[in-house]
Amino acid sequence: MGGPGQDAHDAVEVIIAKRDGGELSDSQVDWVVEAYTHGVVAEEQMSALAMAILLNGMSRREISRWTAAMIASGERMDFSSLSRPTADKHSTGGVGDKITLPLAPLVAACGVAVPQLSGRGLGHTGGTLDKLESIAGWRADLSNAEMLHQLEDVGAVICAAGAGLAPADRKLYALRDVTGTVEAIPLIASSIMSKKIAEGTRALVLDVKVGSGAFMKDAARARELGETMVALGTDAGVTTVALLTDMSTPLGRTAGNALEVAESVDVLAGGGPDDVVALTLELAREMLLAAGVDDVDPADRLRDGSAMDVWRRMITTQGGEPSAPLPRARETQAVTSTRSGVLSTLDAMAVGLAAWRLGAGRARKEDPVQAAAGVVMHAKPGDQVTEGQELLTLYTDEPGRFDRALAALEGGVAVSDTGSVRESQPLVIGRISAT
Ligand code: URA
Repeated sequence: MGGPGQDAHDAVEVIIAKRDGGELSDSQVDWVVEAYTHGVVAEEQMSALAMAILLNGMSRREISRWTAAMIASGERMDFSSLSRPTADKHSTGGVGDKITLPLAPLVAACGVAVPQLSGRGLGHTGGTLDKLESIAGWRADLSNAEMLHQLEDVGAVICAAGAGLAPADRKLYALRDVTGTVEAIPLIASSIMSKKIAEGTRALVLDVKVGSGAFMKDAARARELGETMVALGTDAGVTTVALLTDMSTPLGRTAGNALEVAESVDVLAGGGPDDVVALTLELAREMLLAAGVDDVDPADRLRDGSAMDVWRRMITTQGGEPSAPLPRARETQAVTSTRSGVLSTLDAMAVGLAAWRLGAGRARKEDPVQAAAGVVMHAKPGDQVTEGQELLTLYTDEPGRFDRALAALEGGVAVSDTGSVRESQPLVIGRISAT
């Protein structure tokens, strides 16, 4: 393989090859990823290449090689010394998607270790670490040794990915974010899978979101992304399955950091919204199956309180106080129904944007988030509502934020005479596994 200092290729040659619709050779891919990581390929050159990839695509071979090069840019974790199998889950991001919170302790309670390296939210989708940081004392940064110890001792860990894991992706993701190249399927697939493969999990379940609140707005593109990621995982020896799940309306009844933690704790206590419980159980069953465990029903572990026990230990081990009251917003505003009928639309993007504008999300990576800001949904699509009924409650510490949050909801909430979209829109739209 040509190192960046060895002039094996040059950036313009690689950009032109992709611009003209060609396939990059293994050596070109290896060179350009390594040279970019070390600053030999300039940001503007990688921007041009990322745009050429977005416009002209990549073959399976190119994507596979690109993923391998991103993994090789950093360290690989190794959990093979653990006494139990490992399985992880990755969601491509949605509104109200708090599933990792109940799922990781639930799967651990079933005997499979869950090493969850998570991120912070950017834009309208929430980040798992931001949610957990609303718990007093909880810390996201663990050393590899702490992570391994917690996995053996508690069975589940949710923490920040260290800087050493796929540094090429860290750099490239930040560049894509500001160059309109996030949506390229080869780049999304290689970004997600390089981190998951480097993390060292043996089994992986992907939750590929489809709909207004997701990266992939239509099912065909979501399926292509899912198939690409399943192929990459399988080629790397990771048992990988993808579910395509609906993100046209938010998951559960809350969007916002502390609000979502409270809802997740409800699920672990045996309650919580039906869709959150159903998706948590569905993903748990897939993770257990992928890890080769078929003699435990996760529903039993929710019922008997053992998933809640793991949650409490998982939070405590990372410095958090699971019984401490969660932060509460200083200001609230109700959104009421102007008529009686059936709630026909509760758009995921509109609610995600509203929660973001209330302070639950950030516009730039370095911005702080408000732990207590967000939206509580009192009705979901298909529910009967009456005139004057409270449909949503908005929460923030800064009342000046209400107007822009209300503007985000315009057109995103509708009540009509009849009709239930709930029946016509299943939560799990499809399943992809290696054939
Ligand atoms: N999540 C990632 O980690 N990378 C992407 O490119 C998109 C979502």
